[in-house]
Amino acid sequence: MMILNELTLRRFRIHEQLNLKFESGVTGIVGRNGTGKSSIIEAIGFLFTGEGDDPKDQIITAGQSGTAYVRGKFTLNGKEGVIERSLDTSRVMLEYDGHKLIKASEVKELWAKLLQVDGHIFQHVIMAKQKKIPELFSGETAVREKAFQRIFMVPNTERLRSMIWDNYIKTCPPPLPEDDLYAIDQQLARLGTELTPKQEKLAILGASILNDAQMMAVVNYTEFYNRCMQDAEKRPKLEEQLGSLRTKKEELLSLLQRAAEQLRDVPEDFSSKLEQLKRDKERHRNFVLAVAEATRLREQLLATGTTIEAAIQAAAQAEADDDQARLNQNTLGARLTALRKEIDGLTCLTGATTCPTCHQPITNIESHLFGLRAELVKVTDEFQAATRKLAVTEANLAGQRALVERCRTIQASIDAANRQAEVSRIDFNEETLTAMLAESQRIQQILSSMQQYENSRVQADASIQVVEEQLRHLVTYTGNASPAEELALMQEVLHRHRLRTQEITALEKEVAQLQMEIQLLNQRRDTSVANHEKNLSRMEYNNKLRMAYDVLHTSQFPRRLVQTYGAVVEEELQQQLQRFDLPYQARINEDFRIIITKDGHPVPRLSGGQEMVVGLCLRLALHSMFSQAFPMLIIDEGTTHLDEENKKLYFQCINDLKTDKVIQQLIIIDHSSLLTDAVDHVIRL
Ligand SMILES: Nc1ncnc2c1ncn2[C@@H]1O[C@H](COP(=O)(O)OP(=O)(O)OP(=O)(O)O)[C@@H](O)[C@H]1O
Ligand SMILES: [Mg+2]
Repeated sequence: MMILNELTLRRFRIHEQLNLKFESGVTGIVGRNGTGKSSIIEAIGFLFTGEGDDPKDQIITAGQSGTAYVRGKFTLNGKEGVIERSLDTSRVMLEYDGHKLIKASEVKELWAKLLQVDGHIFQHVIMAKQKKIPELFSGETAVREKAFQRIFMVPNTERLRSMIWDNYIKTCPPPLPEDDLYAIDQQLARLGTELTPKQEKLAILGASILNDAQMMAVVNYTEFYNRCMQDAEKRPKLEEQLGSLRTKKEELLSLLQRAAEQLRDVPEDFSSKLEQLKRDKERHRNFVLAVAEATRLREQLLATGTTIEAAIQAAAQAEADDDQARLNQNTLGARLTALRKEIDGLTCLTGATTCPTCHQPITNIESHLFGLRAELVKVTDEFQAATRKLAVTEANLAGQRALVERCRTIQASIDAANRQAEVSRIDFNEETLTAMLAESQRIQQILSSMQQYENSRVQADASIQVVEEQLRHLVTYTGNASPAEELALMQEVLHRHRLRTQEITALEKEVAQLQMEIQLLNQRRDTSVANHEKNLSRMEYNNKLRMAYDVLHTSQFPRRLVQTYGAVVEEELQQQLQRFDLPYQARINEDFRIIITKDGHPVPRLSGGQEMVVGLCLRLALHSMFSQAFPMLIIDEGTTHLDEENKKLYFQCINDLKTDKVIQQLIIIDHSSLLTDAVDHVIRL
């Protein structure tokens, strides 16, 4: 609910500076002619819509300095706000609910939201300006039609028409496909009749087949009879096998017995004797070897060409010769040393006349030396010869000694061989051993055969056990009929069961096929029904659109729309007229002319006062359409041309509006003295 609380005018027409407070209820503005009352109304109109009757620059008071503007404080939904519009610039400012907007486009947008009514409606319906009150009633039809179109918000029909065509009719989707429902229902009924007997047959067959437990039992019986027959076939073969195994075992036992008998003649100590013979043979071989060795050594000894005694003797001789040679060589060596010493001593004395030790005169030392030197040469030769001889004797001695040693060694070996021969000497018979070995081989053969027999016997025993076990496990049929007959019976049962099962499977397939067909048909049916419904509503929608399109096609549409609203206004207007002392009826014509009739006859022309009354009533009727959205009404000089009675009725009407409280804020300007009684507040200019 918008209430104007305060209005400030700066350089607005006659008002250089004016500040007014307003309240809800009825406010009357009074003052002499030309004091600026209508200017205040003009200022309110400009404040709320940004438009006025005169251009903005013409409104500004000339000759004054300072900015020109209109400012209003208001209350909306319990919140206060301020709006200010400049006259000399395009500046505009809106403050509301914590927002302060100064951008013209933003102010325009928010203000339109807050105001909720169009500027044109504000200018023509909320405000009833001086001299313009009868205008909507008696003015030109074109002006009235335009005004009504704005008030009733009649849209641009050509645009609407092309929009309906382009967006709806032209692009309308094609109808959805529809099946022949009758044919589908026929098909469904046919499938239903086909399906029922099949389902019944299925139920009967289902009940007649074996259940799982019965089936298992029959299969088990079949297997059992099959086994009985197989086992009956196996039995003679197994028994024959068992018999031959037992015979074989008997044979083996007799063979073993015979072999044991053969071994009975073998002496108990046969093997120890054989071992002894083998050892004897070994000893005998050692004896022969030792004798051969001794013989060979003796030949070696003979090869030395001497006997041990002769060799010892020769060695003793060689030793004596060697001793003699050594002695001779030593003697010569001593003489050689003495000679050298003497020669050395004499050589020292060469030239001396007396001996330095014995002081005897030395004569002919040279010849003495000469003799000594000659002897030295001779003794040296002899010494060398003796040395060579010694080497010969030494070698001879070594040879002789080695020979002795060799002879002794050979002799020792001969002795050892002889001793060996003596030890190994035995009375050995090769033939006995050969015979014994042959016997031993025979015994071995018998033993190995016995082992083989024993192994075979053990094997035969095991096989006998296996066959006996197999025989024990053979199933024996004990029923009255033969197992073959029983088996045939069971197989017949199984065969029948299988046939039924196959039949059931085939039937189930057929039933499933039919059910699927039914399901598909049902789906098709549903889709078709749904499509049909959609097509119907689509057609209905499209028809409505076409109707709307056609209605818009005639240029009468806006007029008709206004006429529709006009009917409402006409009714309201009729009610308002009854408030005044005017016994006429009013009707809004097709061309927006308001026809006034009296007793069913049109009144050709109304008087000035009557025009004023009808104008006032028309405004009140129009205003009733907006009073909910914008409960404010401003009337400037509503009593012009009215007689005293109608003036009273006018103020009575103001009073009624105040009492009804449909209009929250009512501002009226009037020169009548009746005003003061009708208003709550008065502003005097
Ligand atoms: N743009 C303007 N600048 C200055 N004065 C103007 C302007 N327009 C109108 N006026 C003058 O302002 C005065 C007030 O006019 P207004 O119509 O507001 O008076 P009023 O109080 O409504 O008078 P009345 O009772 O006769 O209707 C008039 O004298 C008028 O000539
Ligand atoms: Mg005036």
